[in-house]
Amino acid sequence: MKALSLVSIAAVSGLVAMQVQAAEITISCGAVGAELQLCQAGVARWEKQSGHSVEVVSTPNSATERLSLYQQILNARSSDIDVFQIDVVWPGMLAPHLVDLQQYLPQDATDDFFEAIVANNTVDGRLVAMPWFTDAGVLYYRQDLLDEYGLEVPTTWQALTAASQTVQAGEREKGNGGFWGYVFQGRAYEGLTVNALEWIASYPEGGTIVNDQGDITVNNPQAVEALSRAAGWIGDISPQGVLNYTEEEARGVFQSGNALFMRNWPYAWDLVQSEQSDIRDRVGVVALPAGGNDGQSAAVLGGWNLAVSRYSEHPELAAELVAFLTSPGEQKRRAIEGAYNPTLPALYQDEEVLAAVPFFGTLYDTFTSAVPRPSAVTGDKYPRVSNAFFNAVHEVLSGNTGAEQGLANLQSELERIKRRRW
Ligand code: GLC
Repeated sequence: MKALSLVSIAAVSGLVAMQVQAAEITISCGAVGAELQLCQAGVARWEKQSGHSVEVVSTPNSATERLSLYQQILNARSSDIDVFQIDVVWPGMLAPHLVDLQQYLPQDATDDFFEAIVANNTVDGRLVAMPWFTDAGVLYYRQDLLDEYGLEVPTTWQALTAASQTVQAGEREKGNGGFWGYVFQGRAYEGLTVNALEWIASYPEGGTIVNDQGDITVNNPQAVEALSRAAGWIGDISPQGVLNYTEEEARGVFQSGNALFMRNWPYAWDLVQSEQSDIRDRVGVVALPAGGNDGQSAAVLGGWNLAVSRYSEHPELAAELVAFLTSPGEQKRRAIEGAYNPTLPALYQDEEVLAAVPFFGTLYDTFTSAVPRPSAVTGDKYPRVSNAFFNAVHEVLSGNTGAEQGLANLQSELERIKRRRW
């Protein structure tokens, strides 16, 4: 087993063809935090058990870049990658390139998984991916600093803003000029779609960009309020640089002790609690704040699934690897070693899992009631919808457009993308 970068594949495809031939199958894995190592360890177990050999290729951290790489590979009908790690918002769009796993797996293969994710991965009656791990946005906070300043864990964005201002001012006075209140994912990519949807959906009637009927709902007063508030954070409680942060940049600032709050996915727990972390045992995790007292916390649903390419020369073997990696044993290991949320409800009752990641128990409802992005209703057009949304939000955060104007422009653009129907 060898890890090589998928980016270099594109550059030297001749060389890659040779390298890939050495292994029987190839899997693409994410490399955010400890993700790649966990994937490699799982793959190594399967290699040992099955006697087959697997090549692991790593992919860019940005989900947006990852998608365009996958689209290039799949549109070229390349057999270079057999197993793709695909985002929860991609099954509808990538389905034509993926095999129906029901052809290869036992009838009851999906029985113990969260039904909603299995449904999400079933396109026109075909099971195009097995749920690997689920995700939902959560709020990380510095318990030690909230205690020191006599502050409560915020339950509204208003309270988060106020607590950030207080602690940031205090820490800077103590000499830490690089201390910030709040870090999140503000780069113009899929992660900003997620963050901004969490702000908007946390306001009463804020909506989810496009509703289940396919109506464009994003241009509304609550969304204006949510985005205006977020724009006000930049340079105040969030560094200007947040406009270029993905998950790992946000974690870098938080984990080195330079932020009070961070929005991130559960995987960051394992790393902020690691021995290398400057803030080990000083962190808590709760549900994201609500938009005002009549709002509600809204975590956007994320997560990754394993799919087999239609162009694979070894679909049966590839499906076997998928079944192994998504099995209870592997999911438990990944939960304990990396804080990756299982897609098997039973593991949320497992004592060892709960000891490693206590908030898998306390935030169970957050994980099971997370807000989906409008990928099912917009189908193939989802990437364009998301791109239009994150670009519009990025303009507002950058101060180039006001929230009201930005959302009005976005509405026209989404109408153009939709035409008559999605
Ligand atoms: C996480 C989520 C994924 C989302 C991405 C955005 O990886 O699991 O669903 O698209 O973050 O950055």
